[in-house]
Amino acid sequence: MKSVLIDNSNCTLYKTFKDLYTTSFPIFEQRTNEQQKNAFEKENYYLISYLDEDRFVGFISYWDFNTYVYIEHFAVNTEIRGKGYGSKILELFKNSVNKTVILEIDPIKDEISKARLRFYIKNGFYENIYNHHHPVYREGFKPHELIVMTTERPLSVKEYLEFKSNLDEVVMGCYQYLTTQRLILRPWTESDAESLYKYAKDPAIGPIAGWPPHTSVENSKDVIRNILSAPETYAVVLKETNEPIGSVGIMFGDSVHSADMKEGDAEIGYWIGVPYWGQGLIPEAVNRLLVRCFDELDTKRVWCGYYDGNTKSRRVMDKCGFKYHHTEEGKISPLGDERTEHFTLLTKDDWNKK
Ligand SMILES: CC(C)(COP(=O)(O)OP(=O)(O)OC[C@H]1O[C@@H](n2cnc3c(N)ncnc32)[C@H](O)[C@@H]1OP(=O)(O)O)[C@@H](O)C(=O)NCCC(=O)NCCS
Repeated sequence: MKSVLIDNSNCTLYKTFKDLYTTSFPIFEQRTNEQQKNAFEKENYYLISYLDEDRFVGFISYWDFNTYVYIEHFAVNTEIRGKGYGSKILELFKNSVNKTVILEIDPIKDEISKARLRFYIKNGFYENIYNHHHPVYREGFKPHELIVMTTERPLSVKEYLEFKSNLDEVVMGCYQYLTTQRLILRPWTESDAESLYKYAKDPAIGPIAGWPPHTSVENSKDVIRNILSAPETYAVVLKETNEPIGSVGIMFGDSVHSADMKEGDAEIGYWIGVPYWGQGLIPEAVNRLLVRCFDELDTKRVWCGYYDGNTKSRRVMDKCGFKYHHTEEGKISPLGDERTEHFTLLTKDDWNKK
């Protein structure tokens, strides 16, 4: 058996791969054509097809990280399943990469999933106990639960967290786009630093929300690296120009947030460049984040806070259905001054009634 690299969608074997791919995985586990194109552009992504003589027997797509490789998709030609090709491909693959191999399988719920678990154990994989969810490939779906399997031994907590962060940021980072009529909400990248600086240096933006105006492109780059890289933080990109012009994010109990949250709560934050104020763009983005919170992330209550006097921000909350909840006096803002902060709340029940 030999392996042949497929490195773009014009390769002769691409269509054969694609036919097997679309029939082997449920739609929510499949990349769109656009996402596949993005993956081909990443230097640590590989799609390998396996041929016996000239017959296509299957493929493995994987990501090469420092200490391990992650198999994102693996399938054997449906016509020759059950003849030992899966084990042969895995053996060839393990020998060729010579690193720990990580992959995911469905939770055990029926005979098929049990048989799959047995197959991987027979091929030298260990089951990991982490409560693991694979991020979404497509809009309208929720992250799905999977079991992590590894060669050599189960992963330590530290190793698992490193894998999960690479899965979220590197493997799936280029896929996590949310869209609205006029906007794309996507993760920030360091190459956005110039646009970010252009809008975030304006003293009309940061201080009223509690953060300092950006001081240079380099400062904006640091903010992208250290703050805007948090999960569920999105650049607000205008479809018409493809430029990031603002930022929105969902914060949870374990991230920087202002509201006093219970389990299952979240808080939304936002800003947009001054030239774009008053066009209803942030309400449009926030409405999409509310779908994400309530429909996709199983959030029960969403908070939003604003400092006294920020009537523009309060208008956004009113328009998106948030209701005034309470006021906190004498709060020290992240800039160090004392402020009054008002909180509004939207529950899933109220949102459903809208
Ligand atoms: C608050 C903010 C995000 C609103 O975004 P937006 O996309 O302009 O939202 P909207 O278009 O719905 O406008 C909201 C309100 O701003 C006011 N507004 C609109 N255009 C304006 C303009 N050109 N100048 C000043 N205020 C304006 C209006 O009161 C409007 O409400 P209305 O539609 O009932 O008239 C934006 O003003 C901003 O980035 N402010 C600085 C950062 C900030 O305050 N973030 C929130 C922290 S809690």
